Amino acid sequence: MEVRLQKVIADSGLASRRKAEELIVQGRVTVNGQVVCELGTKVNPEKDHVKVDGRHLKPAAPQTFVMLNKPKNVVSTMSDPGGRGTIADLLPGVHVRVFPVGRLDFDSEGLMLLTNDGELAQLLLHPRHHVPKTYLIKVKGMLAPEHIDALEKGVMLDDGRTGPAIVKKVGKATENSWLEVTIFEGRKHQVKRMLDAVNHPVLKLKRVKFGPLALGDLPTGHYRYLTDREANAVRELARERQDVQAGGGQARARQARLKRVRAKWARNARSSRQKTVSSKRVSI
Ligand code: URA
Repeated sequence: MEVRLQKVIADSGLASRRKAEELIVQGRVTVNGQVVCELGTKVNPEKDHVKVDGRHLKPAAPQTFVMLNKPKNVVSTMSDPGGRGTIADLLPGVHVRVFPVGRLDFDSEGLMLLTNDGELAQLLLHPRHHVPKTYLIKVKGMLAPEHIDALEKGVMLDDGRTGPAIVKKVGKATENSWLEVTIFEGRKHQVKRMLDAVNHPVLKLKRVKFGPLALGDLPTGHYRYLTDREANAVRELARERQDVQAGGGQARARQARLKRVRAKWARNARSSRQKTVSSKRVSI
């Protein structure tokens, strides 16, 4: 099967997709002995001999998925020009070149998915079809039902109105409220900005779900590889995104299914909204 040259280079773990493009444009890549500077070039990784700076690429690493429970005060990237601690420091036994699917703020914690599959990551990060993400948050003050309604319908931010969200009260609120918020977009600082918009600033934020993945009892600062079942669920999600982008009939059917799933989540959330999900003290 023919694959884009930059993908073949990135899949070998030598460089990110962007860096691979730079290598090609700089004339440092040959295919079967010929320098190739054209970014659209496709090659057959099983037949064609690709070299960078005169060296053969390593065979592509198998597709790898890692779940990390990011602690606070760590940047959610693999390197930091400012010298702060990064998530790379928390992955000592991962020898495949993985990178995060999305970000969490420096002071946020919780579930991060990492993979070495750049194409899959791009599909999951597509701005129009974001993966549902659920956050457990502590906010200042007691949230009134009209605030919850406003958050669920969408609030106006400086970059436009947010899409519908699912908001559940969790635990017994005394001075501050605990909420579980599910969003279907991925704007910068979105949850914090949504809560600021209803005058209840976020005090703590932890991502507990990402699409089909749940953080469960993975301790803070620890990581694990996804199970086969989880990895398949992530692949299925990426396939759905791919179909939606392709815009075929199958895509419309899947899109309709996604809509139904979303509506069901919303109904469940509404029916359980008044009941508190847990009367235990919540801690993150
Ligand atoms: N929303 C935020 O405001 N911050 C995060 O880290 C994630 C979602």
